[in-house]
Amino acid sequence: MVALNIPVATTKPVSLPCAFVPSTGLHGNLGLPRTLKWPKKMRQCTRKDGPTKVSAKFELKPPPYPLNALEPHMSKETFEYHWGKHHRTYVENLNKQIAGTELDGLSLEKIVVATYNKGDLLPPFNNAAQVWNHDFFWESMKPGGGGKPSGELLELIERDFGSFDKFIGEFKTAAATQFGSGWAWLAYKANRLNVGNAVNPNPSEEDKKLAVVKSPNAVNPLVWDYYPLLTIDVWEHAYYLDFQNRRPDYISLFMEKLVSWDAVSARLEAAKAEVAEREREDERKSVEEDKTSDSEDEGYLDNNSDVSEAE
Ligand SMILES: [Fe+2]
Repeated sequence: MVALNIPVATTKPVSLPCAFVPSTGLHGNLGLPRTLKWPKKMRQCTRKDGPTKVSAKFELKPPPYPLNALEPHMSKETFEYHWGKHHRTYVENLNKQIAGTELDGLSLEKIVVATYNKGDLLPPFNNAAQVWNHDFFWESMKPGGGGKPSGELLELIERDFGSFDKFIGEFKTAAATQFGSGWAWLAYKANRLNVGNAVNPNPSEEDKKLAVVKSPNAVNPLVWDYYPLLTIDVWEHAYYLDFQNRRPDYISLFMEKLVSWDAVSARLEAAKAEVAEREREDERKSVEEDKTSDSEDEGYLDNNSDVSEAE
């Protein structure tokens, strides 16, 4: 395993506009804010209480295998640049950007969603999302990977794409046609509506589909409230040393030799568990609201009966 030597940001943080931290609505183990409240004017959020504390907490997480473990398909040299320089820079820049701001101390997932800011990106978004995306990408691969998944994952792929081969075709097309830098994803969609605070009136198991999506630059499916299961990095820095401009060859090799279907299956299981917990939480809230509504109605009736008796 590669030794980590991550310099901690020690300079005074830049004063940057930041979001108010969402005050309500955490869900599941990702701790994502369900609803976000933003001020009309973004405020400067450097803390005023004495010397600025710099926690700069995020570290460069190593891949779950040695840097030469994916050879000959992905070279050690690619890892030394891609992980050792590009990924490292995202981590260092993120730490500098969030130090001393209200984002300091939040989970990486929360920072990604908060700074996505419904598409009106705040400055730390690109670095935060790229740190998350690369952690996720390294863990999407393994030595001796590729082949075909099994069990429930394969069943859902066949249900939602028609066949495993059709899924492979869709995923490859998404990765190959992402113009410029970006990512392609397999994601699990919860049955939520793409409207803030809206609740699907008729949720069903059929809504919880797998989907192939592509995203530009640093964007990832967390910002759409999807559960990412698999990703491929199609920035040129991911493949240029090994494949030059032959992106389709890199994508094919990724699918055939590198994908860790074990990781994808584990992520699906976690996503389904979280969706189930969210549904139980929604049900609990609905029951509470009904109780509150009933007690208010009773109070109204009691008050009215008092009035009639007085008359
Ligand atoms: Fe990358």
